[in-house]
Amino acid sequence: MEAQSRARLAIAKRVEELGIQDFLRTTKSLLMNEDLKVMSNGLPDWWHVNENVLLSATEAPVRIATHQGEPVPQRSVIIIGKNVTPPTITLWGACSIVILGNDVYMPDGSYSCGPNSTIIIEDKTAATSGPRVNCRNGGIIFIGSDGLWSANIRIFSDDMHAILNLSDNKRINDFGGKVIVEEHVWLGYDAMLLPGTQLGRDSIVGARSVVSKPMPSNSIHAGIPAKTVRSDVTWDKADLP
Ligand SMILES: CC(C)(COP(=O)(O)OP(=O)(O)OC[C@H]1O[C@@H](n2cnc3c(N)ncnc32)[C@H](O)[C@@H]1OP(=O)(O)O)[C@@H](O)C(=O)NCCC(=O)NCCS
Repeated sequence: MEAQSRARLAIAKRVEELGIQDFLRTTKSLLMNEDLKVMSNGLPDWWHVNENVLLSATEAPVRIATHQGEPVPQRSVIIIGKNVTPPTITLWGACSIVILGNDVYMPDGSYSCGPNSTIIIEDKTAATSGPRVNCRNGGIIFIGSDGLWSANIRIFSDDMHAILNLSDNKRINDFGGKVIVEEHVWLGYDAMLLPGTQLGRDSIVGARSVVSKPMPSNSIHAGIPAKTVRSDVTWDKADLP
């Protein structure tokens, strides 16, 4: 099957499995964009023999690496829209999906995505610098369009290590968790989003806050753990008086 169709099919299947159809705003039209071309220049040798696909609407270089000691990526899909800052993407295992929409501006942005895991950042989310997004174990990190991220944002889909209950040795923390951020959400300096986060649209996260629960829209959430400190607000990127 042609690489483009294979990539689109894999994404459609994943979106359905995750039940996130209703959150998607700009991803569907991105996937239909005729400018998405298969890119292969400058990619590591293993990329080409393992049915990995990179479709991009931009000439920006994409740095793809793999996680040392983990299985080499296979059947992974990366989609990059137009006008995207060059990302560093680390993949491991099978069937990772990373989608960066049009005008995603993330200087020094780094995305790590493990097997069967999904990172989607929709159009026009911009960061000051250095965001780190880490999704693993079948987890999902979804970011709606028009987000504004200050510097040093950290988003993790799970804790990366097991916490075990002494009585039965079962894992008690999320394995492959979910982070869902709806459209037009502003994350303040050094904010951290942990598994279980759901941020409603037009909301704000305060500086150095840690979120790990569903939080309502049009509100400000701040502190560790973040609590809603103000409701019935929105925000504007312009620094209006
Ligand atoms: C959250 C924020 C937007 C302010 O919102 P606000 O509605 O004006 O908040 P207030 O200052 O009235 O504070 C409301 C309460 O939240 C607390 N609070 C505010 N920001 C907080 C933060 N970052 N962490 C913990 N608590 C915070 C206040 O102490 C106050 O608590 P109280 O009611 O117990 O006194 C601001 O404090 C903030 O964190 N801005 C970060 C912006 C940023 O990172 N900009 C970089 C450019 S992108």
